[in-house]
Amino acid sequence: MVLLNNTGGLKYHLRAFWHRKRWRPFCEFVEIWLNDWVKDLDLNKRQTLVLIGPNAGYTLSQSFISQFRNIIVIEPDPLAYAMFEARFHCGARLVRQDYFSLSDNPPNPEKLRGLFLAFPNSVFLFCNVLGQLPVILREKKGVNVEDYMRRLAKVLHEEIKHHCMASYHDRYSRNLKKPNEFIDHLTGELFTDVKDKKEFPWRLTRLEEHQIEFVRS
Ligand SMILES: C[S@@+](CC[C@H](N)C(=O)[O-])C[C@H]1O[C@@H](n2cnc3c(N)ncnc32)[C@H](O)[C@@H]1O
Repeated sequence: MVLLNNTGGLKYHLRAFWHRKRWRPFCEFVEIWLNDWVKDLDLNKRQTLVLIGPNAGYTLSQSFISQFRNIIVIEPDPLAYAMFEARFHCGARLVRQDYFSLSDNPPNPEKLRGLFLAFPNSVFLFCNVLGQLPVILREKKGVNVEDYMRRLAKVLHEEIKHHCMASYHDRYSRNLKKPNEFIDHLTGELFTDVKDKKEFPWRLTRLEEHQIEFVRS
């Protein structure tokens, strides 16, 4: 159920509102990093931006979004899209297609290639979604999550050679009450060939901290 799931849904909107001040240093880092990325893109590349899993764009800035003429939002949560539009007023188009094939049995990461075929000549930004895939898949019975992520890495490894792409995603997360216990989000092998990488911590709540990796082609 989209509205109640653990990686988005109502809970996420409430968190974003409640912790907006706590999230500010992370959001400022995202803004600087994305604007720095876009300034190196030539102008004819800045036509269509495809955002994958942006939710309401809580971690995105107006200064970044406004640099593109067309915005496509790939997001299963319709409430998130409505709030995205209310925040940015950019006439974004909602696409509710599940390009990660999460609802298939078994899920097939090869289907992500369809995303790049569907939006040629676009710039792609995975918005803190790739590290959520293992969280979603671990809730499904009988899915080999490690194998899915390995095959996803192969797809991304090939597609990034042909497309302008960036991603910020969980590497690890932890509850600060248990500082030695990390959850591995299995993203460490997704972009092994990419040189332009950074990490920055995101304090989501008083006790929850995520280490986020930033990657851009
Ligand atoms: C952790 S939230 C991140 C939200 C936002 N990018 C941010 O940084 O505030 C993960 C998002 O991925 C979305 N999502 C889940 N499955 C998806 C799919 N198959 N395709 C695209 N987005 C998906 C969820 O609805 C949620 O908005």
